[in-house]
Amino acid sequence: MKVEVTGAAPLEAEASVLAIPVFEDEVSGGKGWFAEVDRRLSGHLASAAKEEDFEGKPDQSLLLRTLGKLRADRVLLLGMGPRDPAQGALQASGFEALRMAAGKAARGAQKAGATRLAFVAPRFPGQTAHEARAIVEGALLGAYRFDRYKSDRKKARDVEQLIVLVPQGLERSKEVKESVALARSVAWSVAWARDQVNSPPLECTPTRLALAARELAKEAGLHAEVLGPREIAGLRMGMFLGVTRGSAEEPRLVKISYLPKGSAAKKAPIVFVGKAITFDSGGLSLKPTESMVDMKTDMAGAAAAIAAMKVVAELRPPFPVHALVGACENMPGGRAYKPSDVLIARNGKTVEITNTDAEGRLVLGDVLAWGVETLKPALLVDLATLTGACIVALGMTTVGAFGPDGPAIESILAAARSAGEDAWRLPLTESVKEELKSDVADLKNAGARWGGSISAALFLKEFVGDTPWAHLDIAGPSNASKERGYIAKGGTGVGVRTLVELVRARQAEESLPPRH
Ligand code: BES
Ligand code: MN
Ligand code: ZN
Repeated sequence: MKVEVTGAAPLEAEASVLAIPVFEDEVSGGKGWFAEVDRRLSGHLASAAKEEDFEGKPDQSLLLRTLGKLRADRVLLLGMGPRDPAQGALQASGFEALRMAAGKAARGAQKAGATRLAFVAPRFPGQTAHEARAIVEGALLGAYRFDRYKSDRKKARDVEQLIVLVPQGLERSKEVKESVALARSVAWSVAWARDQVNSPPLECTPTRLALAARELAKEAGLHAEVLGPREIAGLRMGMFLGVTRGSAEEPRLVKISYLPKGSAAKKAPIVFVGKAITFDSGGLSLKPTESMVDMKTDMAGAAAAIAAMKVVAELRPPFPVHALVGACENMPGGRAYKPSDVLIARNGKTVEITNTDAEGRLVLGDVLAWGVETLKPALLVDLATLTGACIVALGMTTVGAFGPDGPAIESILAAARSAGEDAWRLPLTESVKEELKSDVADLKNAGARWGGSISAALFLKEFVGDTPWAHLDIAGPSNASKERGYIAKGGTGVGVRTLVELVRARQAEESLPPRH
């Protein structure tokens, strides 16, 4: 999709669809763009709004033919809900509403076969660059589809051009241009992550996922290292090796690295760790059919961690950033690890297996310990589709964020907020640790059902030492069962934007402008 930013008058925009975000008070009070379009359509807009009960609420929209009264063929009004309390400015939630609206507009345009989509920025003073970013991200992500396996995919038409309408003069602003470039880059990475998640497990094997990661790194000018089973054994990652035993596919350990030039390369890095079970059958503790169907998505954390590295390469922060991924399948083959097996982790801890379906924490534990030991991170963040319990707690759209009190968890919650990704903090309740006590080893890999995402997080905590660390359980929001704004059915790419904002925040803090 081509993206153009223009200062042209919105009502003169030439487009198949002219999309306008409207707040509730514009509809009820006959103000703003709503009123201007209504005047041009001789009052037909207001009467259509009334007939269709369009009040500007968040999930409402109204599509009208303009019958030659505007240069656009159709006008699409998108409800933005009530104006933010801070009146003259959009808050994070307002930008997310804008992203949602732009996604809906792009998907709507695509379904209607409209090829030129114009989108009017709300135009709050001083916020044009942020508005443009939300619109471009939303529209590009809304137009995403995974139709690789559809025989008739040629019939679907793409939106060819997105025209973002900003106040006159601002189309040339450096800030707006940089924002749009960032939005494009972020949307590309989120789409890359979605593609990996949506790919069937026969295609997205550990080997192929590692190859895709290597390819992305090469394109971005990043360093990539991919290790196989013998090297993983050499690193004594006994938990990782245990999980991979039941599968005919070889495991891969992937490390993608961004290093700044000069002495900054010696600074303590930010390290992302992603769960990459390319298929989770549950192993010998086999999942029932209905729970297994979505388990190709059990590598969504890794997809996000790797995808974010592409944006990091473009941001060029003055500190190193790494992504670490341990990729394998969890299968019940003849050599599979068994309940009552004891595995020895990289950091020496021994783990009694009580449920082979609690596999993610085993692979992550070894990779986290390796990352801590070899990279001495300033900040360690893992993303994992770790527990069904987290979906029970927070639903399908909210990330569960765990971490000891301190700047790490605070910075991640702030990054999620500014990215427009919904995250909620959950506790590392000390008493739940009882669940992980074993009679034969240092730890059990699975506790009782209650507090399941807490015991999983507490398990991971055993492998990070004193490193500032946060764990994001993305089991719910990594996969969408229905379309919503810029989110398509299937893989969502959740986490990419939070990681990008995390890096941007530290970059701003160290206040060294990016070097070009
Ligand atoms: N990959 C699953 C968690 C999951 C469930 C992700 C649903 C996405 C949707 C994980 O490996 C798992 O199986 N967890 C178990 C842990 C239990 C055996 C302690 C779970 O949540 O039931
Ligand atoms: Mn599992
Ligand atoms: Zn799993």
